Amino acid sequence: MMDLAELYRVANAMVAPGKGVLAADESAGTVKKRFEAIGVESTEENRRDYRELLFRSKGMANISGVILFDETIRQKAKDGTPLVKVIEQAGTFPGIKVDKGTKPLPFCPGEVVTEGLDGLRERLIEYRDLGAKFCKWRAVIDIGPGIPSYDCVKANAHALARYAALCQDETLVPIVEPEVLMDGDHDIGRCYEVTELALKTLFQELYVARVKLEGMVLKPNMVVPGKKSLKQASVDEVAEKTLRVLKECVPAAVPGIAFLSGGQSDVDATARLNAMNRLGGGPWKLTFSYSRALQAAPQKAWSGKVENAGAAQQAFAHRAAMNGLASIGKWSPELEKQAA
Ligand code: 13P
Repeated sequence: MMDLAELYRVANAMVAPGKGVLAADESAGTVKKRFEAIGVESTEENRRDYRELLFRSKGMANISGVILFDETIRQKAKDGTPLVKVIEQAGTFPGIKVDKGTKPLPFCPGEVVTEGLDGLRERLIEYRDLGAKFCKWRAVIDIGPGIPSYDCVKANAHALARYAALCQDETLVPIVEPEVLMDGDHDIGRCYEVTELALKTLFQELYVARVKLEGMVLKPNMVVPGKKSLKQASVDEVAEKTLRVLKECVPAAVPGIAFLSGGQSDVDATARLNAMNRLGGGPWKLTFSYSRALQAAPQKAWSGKVENAGAAQQAFAHRAAMNGLASIGKWSPELEKQAA
């Protein structure tokens, strides 16, 4: 039975001022890649040790929710405590990634659609019993010559809406993530255009699926030039264009918007979020739901060594604190130089 009041409570707490979401739901393949970069073998124990260290860091004071992967929501800490309990003890909501990744979209070369709707209700019920309060589903829209197609944008928006409705029906807050990638050489104007199309299409589909906007969190990309674009953008331009597209597309009933970092540098992700909150003027809270921009520093500090756990926790606490300040427009570059 859907409990609307509970959905509103959790959605609002996820975007509470000074806090944001830690995305720690990297799939086995992604963790392997991240660990290889720091010379660590991706074993179940290493993945557990690394994530446990984050969940026990004082940085959790700035984290409202943690997105987990299927393996992690079932894992126990070294002392036998379920990791879900460790997260709850930090005053943070456990959440879970429920999509099953992307598959090529027929007749649309180079484009993908996110799968995972079959049997989703049963999985949601199991995850709720394991302690999840919210879920995540990520759609991927790439920019390139002739893409995205409308088929790709529409199919992904439809899947997001079906996922979001199912989550709410099971009293789980959906994080709705239509990610427009920043991989290409396109300029910021093209990113604006595609993000606008993706968001307009998404909110139509959410309306048709009767999703309660008050009980969801939107996780969009920022409006940025492609990584390979020769014309990069200032912090202010990114903030201004991102705010503008959100005002055009996202109804005021949505309580909060938690950005993905998507390959931006740690400090860019913080500075741009901060600039948006300084500009203000939107009806929703603006915060973070970062994976890379929160975890790159602690991963490097840890490098798989027990004796580095404290330094890794400190590095994570620093990024969490900086982004917490950015979520209320109180960050400044000088604060980066101080230890957490
Ligand atoms: P990044 O912040 O690394 O983009 O990851 C966020 C996320 O959860 C992607 O689905």
